[in-house]
Amino acid sequence: MNDILKSAKWDELVHARYRVSVSTATQLNETLEVLLSHRSVRAYLPEALPDGTVETLVAAAQSASSSSNLQVWSVVAVEDTARKARLAEFAGGQKHILEAPLFLLWLVDLHRLTALGAARGEPAEALDYLESFLLGAVDTAIAAQNAVVALESLGLGAVYIGGIRNKPAEVAAELGLPPHAFALFGLAVGRPDPARPASVKPRLPQDVVLFKEQYNWGEAQQAGIAAYNERLRTFQREQGLRQQDWTAQAGTRVRNAGALSGRDILHQVLHSLGFTLR
Ligand SMILES: Cc1cc2nc3c(=O)[nH]c(=O)nc-3n(C[C@H](O)[C@H](O)[C@H](O)COP(=O)(O)O)c2cc1C
Repeated sequence: MNDILKSAKWDELVHARYRVSVSTATQLNETLEVLLSHRSVRAYLPEALPDGTVETLVAAAQSASSSSNLQVWSVVAVEDTARKARLAEFAGGQKHILEAPLFLLWLVDLHRLTALGAARGEPAEALDYLESFLLGAVDTAIAAQNAVVALESLGLGAVYIGGIRNKPAEVAAELGLPPHAFALFGLAVGRPDPARPASVKPRLPQDVVLFKEQYNWGEAQQAGIAAYNERLRTFQREQGLRQQDWTAQAGTRVRNAGALSGRDILHQVLHSLGFTLR
């Protein structure tokens, strides 16, 4: 690609992400192209993934940084149709889980270090603290995102499934999880069906999320959000979706405990799964 074409492509990708021009000083490369082109994919071709795909994705995931190199996550790869169907129901009946040839369940896994501590006859008390759970959630998420970038670079598509946290105890039983292991989210993976393509969803303008030196919530942010409501409505119109402001959507999603679809009892469920969260 020559430089002019490269920069036209970069402008196009940034524009698709924001629906407005953004001044950047970047030369396009393949990594940025994959990142900027991300969209959640919920429609897949009914074909198995090439042998070794899971191992490739896990290699990418394990290449992510790991807090103190503790490596406190694991992943369960599910391909069995009946198991996918049960997990799809736990996640609120999300059909795309069943359609995907591969469903990855990303676990905060404090069991490994707990078991190793017990085998050495040593306590592992630090794992009882909220900090350790948070560390596990952070590491699991950045590892999974590495896998997403990797699979998108291979022409595959995926969607995260937080819906599995609607029924965490049932998911844990289905996956045969030991105490101190928690399925943080799922990831449905497959080859995108070109007949049902997904589009790049615009994001909040950078004015709203990027602060220089200090946080500053003011008129620029309010204006940016108003502009975003308009841009998202345009996107929804193009996609044949119901038009609704982002502020209304987000407001509904955070309105009350009921909006958490059963996850309001997560603290109790985590306790029952062995997480003390002191
Ligand atoms: C942790 C996490 C959990 C998610 N859970 C779900 C889910 O259960 N079902 C779903 O269809 N999409 C889910 N999504 C996808 C988001 O809805 C999607 O990323 C967002 O609308 C932005 O769209 P995009 O990924 O296409 O840019 C989840 C995303 C993340 C990061």
